Amino acid sequence: MLTILVTGGAGYIGSHTCLQLLEKDYEVVVLDNLANSTLEALRRVQTLTNKSLTFIQGDIRNPQLLDQIFTQYSIDAVIHFAGLKAVGESQLKPLEYFDNNISGSIALFNAMKKANVFNLVFSSSATVYGELHESPLNEMMCTGTTTNNYGYTKLIVEQLLEKLSQSDPRWSIALLRYFNPVGAHPSGLIGENPRGIPNNLMPYVTQVAIGAREKLSIFGQDYETIDGTGVRDYIHVMDLANAHLCALQNRINRSGCRAWNIGTGSGASVLQVIKTFKDVNGVDVKYEFAPRRDGDIAICYADNQRAISELGWIPQYGLEEMLRDSWNWQKQNPNGFNEG
Ligand code: NAD
Ligand code: UFG
Repeated sequence: MLTILVTGGAGYIGSHTCLQLLEKDYEVVVLDNLANSTLEALRRVQTLTNKSLTFIQGDIRNPQLLDQIFTQYSIDAVIHFAGLKAVGESQLKPLEYFDNNISGSIALFNAMKKANVFNLVFSSSATVYGELHESPLNEMMCTGTTTNNYGYTKLIVEQLLEKLSQSDPRWSIALLRYFNPVGAHPSGLIGENPRGIPNNLMPYVTQVAIGAREKLSIFGQDYETIDGTGVRDYIHVMDLANAHLCALQNRINRSGCRAWNIGTGSGASVLQVIKTFKDVNGVDVKYEFAPRRDGDIAICYADNQRAISELGWIPQYGLEEMLRDSWNWQKQNPNGFNEG
């Protein structure tokens, strides 16, 4: 069976992907510095699957450690999640973002090349499309005008990988452009564990629902959308995790670098999310309207046909399941992985 190095595997999307890899009998080696995660997530992954993985606590910016890992384990492919992801923070600490997300990725690609490992799945983002295009966004659209430093790092790494694959046909690279990941494993044992005040809508909604925060601020009520609030393509983290397995199965050892949108193909507004949350879970989410947030766009959703036809990936979960599972996770773990 193939051995997969998963950088950032203890994080939100990484932990769900590790779970699915173990379920499909892959050998899994995780490298994570736990900057934004805890080992408890991987303990639970092993409990849920009744399988074990190898965990190495360390940083992708450590070339000696990377060489050691590639020497010790016979890695067939890498799924690269490790990085920083907070949009606001990236504006305040650009160098940290450049260092972690760009220099860290280069260190990883160097070590891969040294070890003759050329199969890579990279966590990219719909943010690389910038503000230029109207949704649905498809992979033929040009990229290049990101609105923040975080998005810029994703764009740069995409471009580096494109050039790398042009320079050496041994590279086989999948760029997965995630839309808005939400939800949790249906067991409620693993999920998103934001530190401090959540930046993203879904953890904020569940924290208001559980009483940890007073009310949600809805950023903008005058967008040209169905009800004036922002529209996004929410994608269940289980479907997103599965896209990585599809990319591995379909792309391994195929030459080139190619991008796929990973979204459901339809959008929901903030008010639709709140209403559906109440319908599904029976819990009210108190909110107020606030000014638009800098850098936000009105509407963003995917054309996901390329992933469906080329990767054989089909999203299984709708908005109701996403909201059910986000709430289930939050209820069972009111303080994330810290308690209960
Ligand atoms: P996360 O923060 O939960 O996971 C990232 C993991 O990487 C964490 O466990 C963190 O400890 C680890 N890490 C960070 N820097 C590291 C380093 N230098 N060395 C080793 N480990 C390091 O985030 P996530 O939501 O699971 O996101 C995973 C990837 O997907 C990230 O690259 C993110 O940018 C990308 N992405 C996320 C979203 C989203 O909304 N969640 C959207 C698009 C793309
Ligand atoms: N929103 C609120 N209140 C909040 C948080 C969010 O009204 O407290 C709204 C936003 O204005 C937006 C929607 O909810 O309309 C979704 O916002 P998120 O912050 O959850 O997600 P974004 O679409 O802004 O950002 C996400 C990822 C980024 C990625 C970007 C583009 O978090 O990493 O998609 O792909 F860069």
